[in-house]
Amino acid sequence: MATGGRPTTMRAIQYTGYGGGAASLKYVEIPVPLLGKNEVLVKVEAASINPADWKIQKGMLRPFLPKFPCIPVTDVAGEVAEVGSSVREFKVADKVLCRLKFGKGGGLAEYVVASESKIAARPAGVSAADAAGLPISGLTALQALMSIGTKFDGTGRGADILVTAASGGVGMYAVQLAKLGNHHVTATCGARNMEVVRALGADEVLDYKTPEGQALTSPSGRKYDYVINTTDASRWSALRPSLSGRGRVVDVTPNPGNYIASVLTMFARKKISMLAQVSLGKEHMRFLLELVAEGKLRTVVDSRHPFKKAAEAWERSMAGHATGKIIVEM
Ligand SMILES: NC(=O)c1ccc[n+]([C@@H]2O[C@H](COP(=O)([O-])OP(=O)(O)OC[C@H]3O[C@@H](n4cnc5c(N)ncnc54)[C@H](OP(=O)(O)O)[C@@H]3O)[C@@H](O)[C@H]2O)c1
Repeated sequence: MATGGRPTTMRAIQYTGYGGGAASLKYVEIPVPLLGKNEVLVKVEAASINPADWKIQKGMLRPFLPKFPCIPVTDVAGEVAEVGSSVREFKVADKVLCRLKFGKGGGLAEYVVASESKIAARPAGVSAADAAGLPISGLTALQALMSIGTKFDGTGRGADILVTAASGGVGMYAVQLAKLGNHHVTATCGARNMEVVRALGADEVLDYKTPEGQALTSPSGRKYDYVINTTDASRWSALRPSLSGRGRVVDVTPNPGNYIASVLTMFARKKISMLAQVSLGKEHMRFLLELVAEGKLRTVVDSRHPFKKAAEAWERSMAGHATGKIIVEM
């Protein structure tokens, strides 16, 4: 690291091949990346781990992703350290949130380079950890709710909605955003998280390990107009009976069976559609950050891990039992 001005090297975490889980994450000292004219160098304060990060490492997107060696993680919050010559929106010392390129990552490092188009300013009062939870999880929840016509300004009529795995990273944002859209929200989660999910605004909560939870039975006898499915476990055959006459499932965890069902139900009254990858961008990140700043949306932090123990964060995400977001702090 240089003693003044631009740092020359930085610490980062890399893996060099498929598989191996947390044990294959290695610390390296590498050059700080150079900037393009539309890019920003950000000193990372916090990063969040998403299941996509370790699914890519497992080779679930092979042979397309990743390129080795890979510095994983896409969702980071930090402070601007340097700006490219064409960057107009940001200056050194601005607090920001970045969503790095899916599959390329780079977030488990002291510095990241991000395109100006993938960065949003972080309002005062929004911590790095709270912001870092937002990009993949928050945008996925937002996109799923937008796809069913949700209005977030209080003018929506609302519908009967089920959010599965409401204690997870996507689910906890989905519950809160659904309530902003005036929906009646039923949520599933494990028994230990029922109070947390109620506190996020869910009207009714089901323990997914009970027979009622398995059957997705509404405690108040409702059928769901929409299901936002965020568990890998749910199959169309199990989701379909819980839908109302023209009900629709929006599945953010596509499996082959549900993919086929999405094609077969395209013209049916009850449907399932896939949200395979989030396509919302910077404007929507800004929208979520504003909601956090206004106290209308919060990030439930499952756990915070120092950079030197990032492997523990990785393992925790792989175990699949987080309550909210897993954060690595620099
Ligand atoms: N399509 C996209 O663009 C997109 C974007 C983001 C995420 N995803 C996918 O969406 C899924 C969820 O992501 P995430 O970040 O929310 O995961 P996560 O934070 O790891 O979810 C963990 C939570 O899910 C709960 N859970 C697990 N199985 C459940 C079940 N059958 N019913 C109810 N709750 C259950 C766990 O509760 P217990 O501990 O009690 O078991 C835990 O609290 C992942 O498969 C991820 O890859 C897709």
